Amino acid sequence: MKLIIINGPNLNLLGKREPDIYGNRSFEVFYESLKEKFKNIELEYYQSNLEGEIINKLHEVGFNYDGIILNAAAYTHTSVAIGDAVKAIETPVVEVHISNVHARENFRHTSFIAKNAKGVISGFGLQSYILAIQSF
Ligand code: DQA
Repeated sequence: MKLIIINGPNLNLLGKREPDIYGNRSFEVFYESLKEKFKNIELEYYQSNLEGEIINKLHEVGFNYDGIILNAAAYTHTSVAIGDAVKAIETPVVEVHISNVHARENFRHTSFIAKNAKGVISGFGLQSYILAIQSF
């Protein structure tokens, strides 16, 4: 099984960024533990701060991977274009958030992705990614 984790803007700063909300582990360190934990899964990781690059990656993997785990970060709440890309591709997408977006500001309660996602996992810290992998 081939899965990819796609992380959006500012998630390259995990570990440094608002640790009270997002924890103090970098994604790179966490990703190494994911590869150890899921040795039988072909796992890839991609991060970009740019909307168009995230869309290009969705197009690239969206017809030949078994699953996409997408934390589009703030673009979740703003990007019609990423929502359209998720709708356009064939590979199922699980929307993931580290924090519980529904317990935060109102603008985080909207998702342009959720409607076309296989499911949404939000609020379990980095464990949200583990739950998403296990959902495939
Ligand atoms: C986030 C939640 C978003 O609202 C926020 O903009 C992020 C991270 C999360 O993983 O909790 O950057 O997607």
